Amino acid sequence: MSISLGMPALAGRPADVGPRPNGDPSLVDRWGRIATDLRISLTDRCNLRCTYCMPAAGLPFQPPSQLLQADEIARLATIAVRQLGVRQVRFTGGEPLLRKDLVEIIAAVSALEPRPEISLTTNAIGLASRASALRAAGLDRINVSLDTVHAATFLEISRRPFLERVLAGIDAAADAGLTPVKINAVLLRGVNDRQAAELLDWSLTRGHQLRFIEQMPLDADHSWDRATMVTAAEVREQLQEHYELVPDDEPRDGAPAELFRVFSRDGSEFLGLVGIIASVTESFCADCRRTRLTSEGAVRSCLFSHAEVDLLGPLRAGASDDELAALWRDAMWAKPVGHGLDAGGFVQPERTMSAIGG
Ligand code: 5AD
Ligand code: SF4
Repeated sequence: MSISLGMPALAGRPADVGPRPNGDPSLVDRWGRIATDLRISLTDRCNLRCTYCMPAAGLPFQPPSQLLQADEIARLATIAVRQLGVRQVRFTGGEPLLRKDLVEIIAAVSALEPRPEISLTTNAIGLASRASALRAAGLDRINVSLDTVHAATFLEISRRPFLERVLAGIDAAADAGLTPVKINAVLLRGVNDRQAAELLDWSLTRGHQLRFIEQMPLDADHSWDRATMVTAAEVREQLQEHYELVPDDEPRDGAPAELFRVFSRDGSEFLGLVGIIASVTESFCADCRRTRLTSEGAVRSCLFSHAEVDLLGPLRAGASDDELAALWRDAMWAKPVGHGLDAGGFVQPERTMSAIGG
């Protein structure tokens, strides 16, 4: 059951800033959006140090006792699926493969009724030896972060010489049937900004689905600059020098990537799909269906919100499922209308991407 608050108006104040309507079990917000897509960060640690995400020296990581444990994740996911209408669960980080209990966590979530769709966002380091076990535990889909296929550029961006391990992880994911493997790429000015077509060629050849994501200001160094950011429009232009792109007319259905069908330059051969995610220049906030749990068990209604609502504390103090569901609903009711990244007055959240979960 859901209530209708009309189309979310993206300027000004919401139509109704009053209390949350009683009796609506979903994660509805003041703008009428309903979150059905849950992202759970499993750790704030990572074995890379991508410049757009983490500082070179790393961050003060949370002690393991403050992280959600496997049984706590299972409990919160159960509440999300049974009481709050969540239909998709994505595990993120930091780097989720650093959790030794990842197979156990995925198996617990895939045993839920109704079974949510389960996906993983990872840098693929260590995936080579775990892909088939994750698949067998119930993992449906995978997104791998890969910004370049050049070892030197990989080292420059991630500050670690691990390109070969990532590529081996991607191969293993495809072999395990986690297909199509989605590849997430961020283009950085002066670093890999001329590698878009090459990365697409690499992905198409292997049957992977590449998506370019505009860089968002979630880096620890606060070095993001709107003026030099590589925009979705620029990515399109670059790709069109080598390929013909035809907008895919399948409905986007809340998915942020604008999809294109890729053809050879003369239009004769269909090669695959590419996605371009204009997270900054064409924000998809109006269609957002996401709710997030940080690795310490707090609800974040938006990547860019400045507030978090702790669930792990109440859970460990003995809160009931109904009480936890109510806290979660209230947190989402307060979801901001959008990130306002392309407007004046944007204030970067204190937490980096690695701490929030992508
Ligand atoms: N801007 C855009 N995308 C980012 N990612 C990490 N940090 C940023 C950022 N600042 C991407 C990673 C990963 C996904 C979760 O988000 O490449 O694939
Ligand atoms: Fe690690 Fe992902 Fe952040 Fe890179 S973007 S440092 S892979 S968490």
